Amino acid sequence: MKIVLEAKALYKSFGKEKEDEAAVLRGINLQIGQGEFVVIMGQSGSGKSTLLYNISGMDRLTRGQVLFDGEDISSLSDDKISKIRLNKMGFIFQHSHLLKTLSIKENIMLPGIKAGKKTRAEVIRDAEELMQRIGIEAIGGHDITKVSGGQLQRAGICRALINSPGIIFGDEPTGALNSGAALEVMKILNDINQNGTTLLVVTHDSKVAARAERVIYLADGKIETEYMLGKYNSEKEDLRERENEMNKWLKQRGF
Ligand SMILES: Nc1ncnc2c1ncn2[C@@H]1O[C@H](COP(=O)(O)OP(=O)(O)OP(=O)(O)O)[C@@H](O)[C@H]1O
Ligand SMILES: [Mg+2]
Repeated sequence: MKIVLEAKALYKSFGKEKEDEAAVLRGINLQIGQGEFVVIMGQSGSGKSTLLYNISGMDRLTRGQVLFDGEDISSLSDDKISKIRLNKMGFIFQHSHLLKTLSIKENIMLPGIKAGKKTRAEVIRDAEELMQRIGIEAIGGHDITKVSGGQLQRAGICRALINSPGIIFGDEPTGALNSGAALEVMKILNDINQNGTTLLVVTHDSKVAARAERVIYLADGKIETEYMLGKYNSEKEDLRERENEMNKWLKQRGF
């Protein structure tokens, strides 16, 4: 399998403290293969979000390396990293952070316009196709304050996909949703992954983790262990069984 993303001996500390002892991330080694769906779990404060931000170039590591498509992005300028993030990565957060002054569709189009690789008409066409696929075509013209949390999150997913990124990073993408809306988002994530997009998702939710193929458990800024579930096949497999296995494993870690 081709490795698309790799952290090598990654350390991150926020203060001036002696980095190896008090660092938030302490020597993370991680490889993500093309097309994988990997979940990061761990107690609150274990460093999950920090890992996601550092491995995706949203934040600067203190020491170590992050290789994206074989390129050491940790040594690139802010400008170059921003370009890579805009063109090759997608981000989904707990709250979608859409702009209030724009409609749903305009929000989805924005990164497509910014990237400057497509005409406005092409961006509109792609945004409409995505909204159709994700089931929010009817609310494209709506104000972002006039839609549900689930619809907003699905709009955030469309926005993350507008530049056809090879990888999507998610930090608690279902964290603010009710169970019905969370299920919709989980299904969309599986669907995106089926279509070849690599996913790296932080979650507290074993229901999300059960849909991944590999779960990494972070404790005190280190990868304690990982669990190989294998790719989820919704036609052949019972999700509840995977979830039960997942919960047993998590319980053993005191989660
Ligand atoms: N910008 C920052 N400045 C200082 N300390 C920070 C900063 N961001 C995170 N930390 C610290 O790093 C540690 C890990 O935080 P992080 O947000 O990565 O945890 P997490 O595993 O995502 O937790 P949660 O499950 O609550 O989201 C915490 O002790 C936190 O206080
Ligand atoms: Mg977090």
